[in-house]
Amino acid sequence: MKDIKYSLLNINDEAELRSAAYIHESAPLNWDPHYKVTDERVLFWVDYLKNLSLGNKAWIMVAKNQKQEVIGLHWLKLEEKFNQLRANIDSLWVHDDYRKNGIGSELKKRGEEWAKSQGAKLISTQVYYSNQKMINFNVKLGFIPQQVEMIKPLK
Ligand SMILES: CC(C)(COP(=O)(O)OP(=O)(O)OC[C@H]1O[C@@H](n2cnc3c(N)ncnc32)[C@H](O)[C@@H]1OP(=O)(O)O)[C@@H](O)C(=O)NCCC(=O)NCCS
Repeated sequence: MKDIKYSLLNINDEAELRSAAYIHESAPLNWDPHYKVTDERVLFWVDYLKNLSLGNKAWIMVAKNQKQEVIGLHWLKLEEKFNQLRANIDSLWVHDDYRKNGIGSELKKRGEEWAKSQGAKLISTQVYYSNQKMINFNVKLGFIPQQVEMIKPLK
């Protein structure tokens, strides 16, 4: 899509930082419509992001429209698992009004390039089983479903 600019999250830009924190904290709304986003939790992520070592262990890219609003976010973190360096996806989101224009795929592509440049051997993500749209999207982009996490609420 034209007029969309991609850049690494600028942690010195308060508005951008708050948008990223809000988007990340709102993620559960994609599978739980009753989830409550609170200011306290958004501020927690603002602090977290400020203290994260971006460009090293973590990589966060934003997509912005012409009005400089954040309309897409992709967040990866490097981690060691089973003796292998991998990049795990912490967030992927594109604003409703901008979906199906290739922005999500572009963010993923750039994330994979960064992960490879850091020596990661694979990229991983956790998706809610109910989020079939996301599962299908990932499969289309070459992801292979692995473990299924199961939970049982205790009463
Ligand atoms: C998943 C998500 C990031 C995809 O973002 P997006 O920008 O719409 O992604 P893309 O445009 O690259 O691809 C989405 C679809 O649009 C299609 N598409 C891409 N460019 C297109 C174009 N120019 N015209 C029409 N369709 C297009 C893609 O083929 C893809 O098709 P599919 O739905 O059959 O797989 C977005 O839907 C989202 O934010 N979902 C909610 C958040 C979420 O669930 N996050 C995951 C939590 S684990």
